[in-house]
Amino acid sequence: MKASADKRLLAAAELISDSAVLADIGTDHAKLPVSLILSGRIKRAFACDINEGPLLFAEALIKERKLEDKITTVLTDGLKGLTLSEITDVSICGMGGELISDILKNSLSEEYSRINFVLNPMTRDDALRRFLAENGFIIEKETAVVQSGRVYSVMKASYNGKPYKKEESWYQIGEIAPIGEGKKYIEKVISRLEKQSKNPNEAEKIARLINEIKEKL
Ligand SMILES: C[S@@+](CC[C@H](N)C(=O)[O-])C[C@H]1O[C@@H](n2cnc3c(N)ncnc32)[C@H](O)[C@@H]1O
Repeated sequence: MKASADKRLLAAAELISDSAVLADIGTDHAKLPVSLILSGRIKRAFACDINEGPLLFAEALIKERKLEDKITTVLTDGLKGLTLSEITDVSICGMGGELISDILKNSLSEEYSRINFVLNPMTRDDALRRFLAENGFIIEKETAVVQSGRVYSVMKASYNGKPYKKEESWYQIGEIAPIGEGKKYIEKVISRLEKQSKNPNEAEKIARLINEIKEKL
């Protein structure tokens, strides 16, 4: 079985701390923890999934690579049942922004303040950024990744429990710089908003938002 991570997961891997003890939530085939352990970047990992099927694939890959002493599989909903004090990094990749927000909200604790979070929403990136701001998470770094014709955001976040507010355009494009793949990400956001602006009830508000984003280009 192929252990190599794709471009999106490689971008997530780059944001994980060196020597981390990682909890990879929604691990599926455990490609992210397996590639990080094989490259010697992290010490240990918990490969977590809510479904048994994906965990069976994860276990097969971990066994094939003889990594049973380094990666533990955990059948769990989000971060529930994990001991946060033994974890330095949490990755939640390849899920909708609202589900990632729910997973973070359901286990929110002071322990979060020592954890490096790496998040990759597949949809509703804006909802995730809004949750992060309203719940005291700071986006330290955010990059855009183009893969198979789609553009994704991958973000590194920390927690200090202090909620804050941003201008509306920030919830749409976050900390993504308007260069390279970031430019493509922002163009995708504008084109989605342009489609939404066809709704007459929203047209004026969305036109203002699009102008706010275009000013940043
Ligand atoms: C599309 S896969 C993403 C796999 C991998 N993280 C990636 O980015 O390629 C989503 C995985 O999340 C799992 N999942 C969904 N909800 C979850 C939850 N609440 N807690 C843990 N895992 C969950 C699913 O079973 C599935 O294996």
